[in-house]
Amino acid sequence: MNAEGFASIAALVKTRSGIVLTPDKEYMLETRLAQILKQEGIPSLDALALRLRDPRAEVLARNVTEALTTNESSFFRDSKPFDHLKRLLPKLMASRPAGHRLRIWSAACSTGQEAYSIAMILVELGIRGAEIYGTDLSREVVDRAREGVFTQFEVQRGLPVQMLVKHFRQEGGRWRIAPELRSMARFEERNLLGDHRALGKFDVIFCRNVLIYFDPPTKGRVLNALSAQLAPDGVVYLGGAETVLGLTDRLAAVPGERGVYAPTVLRAGAA
Ligand SMILES: C[S@@+](CC[C@H](N)C(=O)[O-])C[C@H]1O[C@@H](n2cnc3c(N)ncnc32)[C@H](O)[C@@H]1O
Repeated sequence: MNAEGFASIAALVKTRSGIVLTPDKEYMLETRLAQILKQEGIPSLDALALRLRDPRAEVLARNVTEALTTNESSFFRDSKPFDHLKRLLPKLMASRPAGHRLRIWSAACSTGQEAYSIAMILVELGIRGAEIYGTDLSREVVDRAREGVFTQFEVQRGLPVQMLVKHFRQEGGRWRIAPELRSMARFEERNLLGDHRALGKFDVIFCRNVLIYFDPPTKGRVLNALSAQLAPDGVVYLGGAETVLGLTDRLAAVPGERGVYAPTVLRAGAA
């Protein structure tokens, strides 16, 4: 495809999702958009770029953006944040008034493995009544998360077999999350670049393995927006390759813990 066509698709995806596509990702456009070209009868990526200039091509623009998201996920991914969560939740519960409903946000939840890993921890700890809110830009993955059905391959990645047997039911060759865990989680489409103020405060926010796709100003903007929704003693979990350093002064690393960030106490007038 020509440089102009690539730049125009990359600009559209960046505006709609924050995802930065550098010119070395042209192969990705070719593979990920091939299906859309076929379905729409569009002869080439350059022709697609032209079609997307039409402001009425909203559905196409959305489908192109979603096709360029990377939805890789697994149960208890990287394990450390979940070990930390197991230690944190009893402390948070102890510091909350009786009857407080814990709220945990899995932002960029993909197909739901992160949200259901959190649900399994809550059940193991005997914490009842918590709300898990899973959100993602992509409709397709949100639908899959809601369905709560996983392939043999997906459950083999990171999920201890005793947890599989305890919390899933086999349906043919696939595994369905148990109804009590399914009912703990609510899934919605939500863009991290949007306004989250109406959501209220969360005790814990997971935002893992998505900031890596954004440029530094977008990462900073998203981190500031997430910190605004976080309880003063809550934490944010980021992916292993992600940090807040140089991006926001509202969150700081929890000493000795990898990928765990807590609100900074900003001096009066500095906020
Ligand atoms: C690699 S997955 C990470 C899933 C999970 N958090 C984990 O760590 O396993 C990244 C997800 O971010 C989503 N995403 C990308 N840009 C987004 C945006 N602007 N708003 C919300 N979700 C976004 C993608 O659709 C994708 O499902």
